[in-house]
Amino acid sequence: MSLKDETQTHQTAGGDVVHRRSKRRRCGAHCKRFWWAYLIAFACVVVLVVCLVIFVGVPNIAQDKLNEAKLEIQGVNILNTEPNKFLMEVNSTITTDGSIHADVDAFTGSMYLEDHEPHVAFAMLNFPETSADKMQVVNISQEVKVADMDAFVRFNEWFVERESLRLTIEGKTKVKPAGLDRKYDVTFKKTLDVKGLNLLKGTEVLVDSAELSLKVDDNNKNFYGEADIPNPSHFTLEVLQGNAVFHQYIGDEELGHLFIDDLILYPGSNLVNVSANLEQARVVSILRTPEYCKDGIIPFKLLAENVTRDGKDIEYFAKGLAVANQTVDINIGAIIEKSLGAKIGCAD
Ligand SMILES: *[C@@H]1O[C@H](CO)[C@@H](O)[C@H](O)[C@H]1NC(C)=O
Ligand SMILES: *[C@@H]1O[C@H](CO)[C@@H](O)[C@H](O)[C@H]1NC(C)=O
Ligand SMILES: *[C@@H]1O[C@H](CO)[C@@H](O)[C@H](O)[C@H]1NC(C)=O
Ligand SMILES: *[C@@H]1O[C@H](CO)[C@@H](O)[C@H](O)[C@H]1NC(C)=O
Ligand SMILES: *[C@@H]1O[C@H](CO)[C@@H](O)[C@H](O)[C@H]1NC(C)=O
Repeated sequence: MSLKDETQTHQTAGGDVVHRRSKRRRCGAHCKRFWWAYLIAFACVVVLVVCLVIFVGVPNIAQDKLNEAKLEIQGVNILNTEPNKFLMEVNSTITTDGSIHADVDAFTGSMYLEDHEPHVAFAMLNFPETSADKMQVVNISQEVKVADMDAFVRFNEWFVERESLRLTIEGKTKVKPAGLDRKYDVTFKKTLDVKGLNLLKGTEVLVDSAELSLKVDDNNKNFYGEADIPNPSHFTLEVLQGNAVFHQYIGDEELGHLFIDDLILYPGSNLVNVSANLEQARVVSILRTPEYCKDGIIPFKLLAENVTRDGKDIEYFAKGLAVANQTVDINIGAIIEKSLGAKIGCAD
């Protein structure tokens, strides 16, 4: 008698108990016969779960861990500046909670301003292979080509003008968790709060070393001195073997140019030599006005005109430094008194 026939027989005989018992019996027989099907189904479920863990779970965990990792920048050097490229050195650390061990492939990170839409990368930085150890030092030194000049100029403008700005580094890479021999696609994306130059506020021209002459010298200059320029950022900026030239204004009137040769701005305070050709006669007559004659201090406004290195224009620095006028109070009264031995008083 077949299984089917037996069932039918009992069902026609009626009675719930019989029916239930028959079902159980039917199942027992069924299972005995089709155990292999259940095994296959079970295996499939196991495979599915494992696949979900490996293809969805692990990548998500890997991505989450990467998202939680902290990128911190200790220092950035922008050196060997050329019109379209520069040497970028970055000392940084990546910290994770160390709960998973994984190797992260080397990758190229695009750098862009987080708060400017659309996001256009101004440069690419190659990150080396790393492990997800708790604390990892990542020091990078590489020549970086400007990927998009407009975007890089904007970055420089924001960097010069602002107290802080948000910089994002983003790249696609692969993670290989320890113990698995598969690599997973992940996105490395970190947004950093970067301190800007804040218009180099607090720049001072030192009176003691300043010298103003009545006539311009062979270099067409009549002022030499030292300035103390604060760099509140973590960036070292180099325009070595080059020069920065600034317009000098008092109010809206242009009264000459200020030159800084071999400019390097390290983080912190920077003592640099400055020189200028000033329209002395005008400066003296402005100094005699009631506004300035009492304390002799004139707020000069400086605006970059050009920045050159090895005779080549470094447009991105020049435009960055020309984003706004930078006001520097110069005690020109004391400098004139010291250099020329004459005190300039108020006009009658
Ligand atoms: C990185 O650290 C090394 C060693 O302390 C130092 O010489 C170098 O100038 C640093 N570079 C940057 C970009 O801060
Ligand atoms: C990497 O940078 C760190 C932090 O600035 C520094 O202490 C370390 O010496 C640097 N290592 C190398 C190899 O430059
Ligand atoms: C800087 O000041 C000068 C003189 O007042 C003015 O002509 C110029 O437009 C200003 N530049 C910027 C970028 O504010
Ligand atoms: C300024 O120039 C003088 C003379 O050339 C030099 O001795 C001095 O080191 C320079 N100072 C700075 C801060 O570069
Ligand atoms: C930079 O500006 C100064 C002052 O106007 C000028 O004498 C010099 O030729 C300029 N340099 C370049 C490379 O344009």
